[in-house]
Amino acid sequence: MAAQIEVNKNLKSLHSFGIEVFTKYFAIFHSLEDLQEILILIDQKKILHKFVLGGGTNVLFTKPFAGIILQNKIVGYKIVDENKENILLEIGAGSNWSAFVDYCVQKNWYGIENLSLIPGTVGAAPIQNIGAYGTEFKDCCSYVIGYDLEINKVRKIDHKDCHFSYRNSIFKSNLKDTFIITQVGVRLSKKNLLNISYPGIQHELKKMNIETPNLISLSQAIKNIRNAKLPNPLEIGNAGSFFKNPIIDSNQLKYIQSKIPNIQSYIQENGNFKISAAALIENGGWKNYKNNQVGCYEKQCLVLINLGKATGEEVLELANNIIESVYQQFKVKLEPEVNIINC
Ligand code: FAD
Ligand code: EPU
Repeated sequence: MAAQIEVNKNLKSLHSFGIEVFTKYFAIFHSLEDLQEILILIDQKKILHKFVLGGGTNVLFTKPFAGIILQNKIVGYKIVDENKENILLEIGAGSNWSAFVDYCVQKNWYGIENLSLIPGTVGAAPIQNIGAYGTEFKDCCSYVIGYDLEINKVRKIDHKDCHFSYRNSIFKSNLKDTFIITQVGVRLSKKNLLNISYPGIQHELKKMNIETPNLISLSQAIKNIRNAKLPNPLEIGNAGSFFKNPIIDSNQLKYIQSKIPNIQSYIQENGNFKISAAALIENGGWKNYKNNQVGCYEKQCLVLINLGKATGEEVLELANNIIESVYQQFKVKLEPEVNIINC
């Protein structure tokens, strides 16, 4: 079917904040050929702004989108290489991440089970280097393939050139808005390599009466922990953690400890410390905060929620008020993790 561009599309069901917001133009691509056709139409129509959407689980639209939203629906998995010890898979970027994890767990391939139930697409996983329960996407990434809009060519980027770090990558920095990810290469292990060291996992396994976890029970434990802590976007609009956990130096840490003596800190490779944004927000007086439209989720105040009919501007206003309040009290500037779209 020839590529089509829709006009004035409501995005409400296409992003997890569930906010009613319109885009001037919208198109879906199922293949690289579709994408190239749409890019020609975009040139012909002189549409200036493009935005690639996956599952919409890490975006906040603060006003109607004036350009074109391109939704990635390139799906499917294929085995590219396999030996006794590991397996290399290439996955279409529009495939669902959580379904892909479940598939690998069933196949007995180790490496991404701690990333169970993270919503969104495989193609978005490298963007912020998704992470949870002691694993990050960078740990399994072999390469990323995409269409480079600067040179109008497909390009394969090796994992070492992706510049992955906590909730960041080259795709969020140098290549932001210029590289459309179409496939991702993931290397998994066939050896039993479970990581159960993150706080809470062993407790959950005990609750499940599991003494010797395997891939399936570990994945289930992660799902249980997540379901107990995070709101389901189908019921409450949200985009997961709204802010990143701040990484600060020892002087900043001392100052915060003078205000919150029992705050946990996690030392990083460069000697800095990661602290919990949720602890700063809670101690800053925002626990259980709600106004008529938006609020902090009661089980985890790092997650901002749409109480039903919020606008993107209302969510942003709450986020900005929290940033200001936390800064005034603890001298740390929280940075949004969610991608804020305002054009
Ligand atoms: P989208 O929200 O559609 O897009 C996110 C960004 O990636 C946008 O800037 C978009 O332009 C860009 N993008 C998407 N696809 C492409 C592509 N193919 N090419 C180029 N750019 C692209 N994240 C974690 O890291 N850990 C968690 O534990 C976690 N838990 C979550 C829990 C909940 C309940 C929710 C709602 C979110 C959570 N998230 C978590 C955030 C989110 O799931 C991830 O960021 C996910 O990778 C976003 O995928 P997506 O397809 O929905 O991306
Ligand atoms: N931490 C460590 N080592 C530990 C324990 C925690 O480094 O032993 C770090 C965590 O990596 C985290 C911080 O300390 O950055 C606070 O940990 P907590 O368990 O309180 O998690 P959180 O802040 O509520 C973070 C992620 C979640 C992810 C969970 C589980 C961010 C902004 N949020 O939440 O991701 O699911 O850890 O790993 O990093 C999301 O990004 O949307 C999200 C839900």
